Amino acid sequence: MTEHETAPQAPEGAHRLFGERLSLAAAFADILADTGVSHGLIGPREVPRLWDRHILNCAVIADAFADGERVIDVGSGAGLPGLVLAIGRPDLELHLVEPMQRRTDWLSSTVEDLGLDNVTVHRGRAEEMTGTLAAPAVTARAVARLDKLARWCLPLVEPGGRLVAMKGRSAPEEIEQARTVLRRLGGIDPRVVEHGEDVLREPTRTIQVTRSKR
Ligand SMILES: C[S@@+](CC[C@H](N)C(=O)[O-])C[C@H]1O[C@@H](n2cnc3c(N)ncnc32)[C@H](O)[C@@H]1O
Repeated sequence: MTEHETAPQAPEGAHRLFGERLSLAAAFADILADTGVSHGLIGPREVPRLWDRHILNCAVIADAFADGERVIDVGSGAGLPGLVLAIGRPDLELHLVEPMQRRTDWLSSTVEDLGLDNVTVHRGRAEEMTGTLAAPAVTARAVARLDKLARWCLPLVEPGGRLVAMKGRSAPEEIEQARTVLRRLGGIDPRVVEHGEDVLREPTRTIQVTRSKR
């Protein structure tokens, strides 16, 4: 019989963030610990910190999205943050954009295993989707620095919508370095927002950039 790897037990914060969807979040954590590792989507050393560093870190940005919003996750990889948002917020419509076939195959089978009906997986690079895919909100985690990310993602943001880029402590510096690119692309009012101060030891930071309506 094949041994299935499982994730550590969900911490208290997970109960608060996922509520009655916690068992689905735990099922996703187990998939990450098992085929997520064996298929090379996350490293084995991430398993002990799957909840804090990955799942909860992503779940807390749910407050950046309006009820029923369509959200594109660029460079979704192991479904971070896209699948976490789809699990925690069944009202959202998630579009996961990922160029690597091995990863889109894994994402599609994970969506099926979890029975999620609010997720579409798209294979390709974000810059190839301009003109065919757009949403009021586009998110990304660990894909590129803000200047490059804005070039790929802002064309997918509908006018008046926003890019919600998950970032670390370099966020203010990345905004300074991207100012010219943002202006050229119609990206306005860039700001750093913190999420989950009450659940995480270190809050998650996002850079949020609005796409001008003109
Ligand atoms: C470091 S991984 C991060 C994955 C996931 N977002 C996470 O936080 O674990 C970067 C991902 O971005 C994808 N990627 C790279 N360039 C891209 C592009 N131009 N458009 C869309 N995805 C891209 C890669 O294939 C990879 O899956």
